[in-house]
Amino acid sequence: MVSFRLCNPTEILFGSGQIARLSDLIAPGTKVFLLYGGGSIKRNGVYDQVMAALSRCEVVERGGIEVNPVYETILNARDLARRSGSELVLAVGGGSVVDAGKFLATIIPLDVADPWDHLASGKPAGKTLPVGAILTLPATGSESNPVSVISSRERHLKIPFANEAARPRFAILDPDTMASLDKRQLQNGVVDAFTHVVEQYLTTPVNTPVQYGFSEVILQVLIEWGPRLVEKNDAEARENIMWAANQALNGLVGAGVPQDWSTHMIGHAITALYDIDHARTLSMVMPALMRFKSKDKQAMLARYARRVWQIDEPDADKAAEEAIRRTEDFFRRMGCPVRLSDATPVEIAADDVVAHLERAGQTALGERHDIGTTEVREILKLAA
Ligand code: NZQ
Ligand code: ZN
Repeated sequence: MVSFRLCNPTEILFGSGQIARLSDLIAPGTKVFLLYGGGSIKRNGVYDQVMAALSRCEVVERGGIEVNPVYETILNARDLARRSGSELVLAVGGGSVVDAGKFLATIIPLDVADPWDHLASGKPAGKTLPVGAILTLPATGSESNPVSVISSRERHLKIPFANEAARPRFAILDPDTMASLDKRQLQNGVVDAFTHVVEQYLTTPVNTPVQYGFSEVILQVLIEWGPRLVEKNDAEARENIMWAANQALNGLVGAGVPQDWSTHMIGHAITALYDIDHARTLSMVMPALMRFKSKDKQAMLARYARRVWQIDEPDADKAAEEAIRRTEDFFRRMGCPVRLSDATPVEIAADDVVAHLERAGQTALGERHDIGTTEVREILKLAA
């Protein structure tokens, strides 16, 4: 096992009606900065529930956080948050809003006019405002992890930032909020969570049977309940997917395990360049990456085949290929593309993707740091 340090202090309130418990989590009189997205929370009743629960707090609100949240918008929100003396950032929405909330909480006290370069270069964030999250779209795990994925329009970049102090103090996961999600967002959420587990699982094998077992169960739950969620969006499916997506990226299954986030980094480049949904970039890249790296990943691919997909095939190569094929089938069942050419009418240019990775300093990807620009071109060719 690789040595690790794990502390996940996010208090989770899970279940129907839990938004009303916000008043137990935030002291009366607190100056709350309420952040949300394009307005879904106003249409589905979540905003009203939040405001009722915050009746004894001072609330300043800012909507308009974009899908794939934009740095320049968050900078603008910082001015308002500072002027209003906000003491806590409450993010209400999907991963984009939660990511923006964590980034905002990081930069409010940070005395740097344009903090992108400061944070991107790994300099300390310093004091961070406390964050709370009310999740309305299960996918990213952002509600209890330290990462914000932020896009800068000016820099033409989409990159992850990590700040432990921004990990939400609490997260409310009420599966009822998912009732207003359309099929596309439900599909995206399941596929995104699936790839999070895979990127912490299909790497160099180490002595982590507990983490691998957890990963396999999460994948099986996503495979079993994902299609039902998309088809019926019923209460049981909602709660299983909401919990699985949280567990997929809260630090637990990745503890002590080599990780390979190359599908995500290539995917972020594709989103930044072509504005394709996050999950759909992942489903286009991941099968090709598995094939390109099938020798290095053979042991875990064979385990994935046997334990997740129940493939009864003694030959490791054949088992691995069959597992990749089933992964593609699953992504297709979830309505997601598995080839770059499925993204028509957009044509994805390897030169542009590589240039984004170079600008982001992501040129030694994978668990062995051996996926550079040449390898990314090969992967994109296989994904064509
Ligand atoms: O903006 P609003 O109006 O709220 O609408 C959103 C948005 O249009 C809508 N939505 C959310 N909850 C809803 C709802 N519509 C109806 N009913 C509800 N209950 O769904 C749309 C997509 O929302 P978004 O937050 O963008 O989706 P998601 O949760 O998939 O987040 C994607 C972002 O998270 C980043 C991605 O890169 C992307 O920027 N990620 C963050 C990660 C992390 N922090 O650890 C890891 C992930 O790999 C990912 O990179
Ligand atoms: Zn993701």
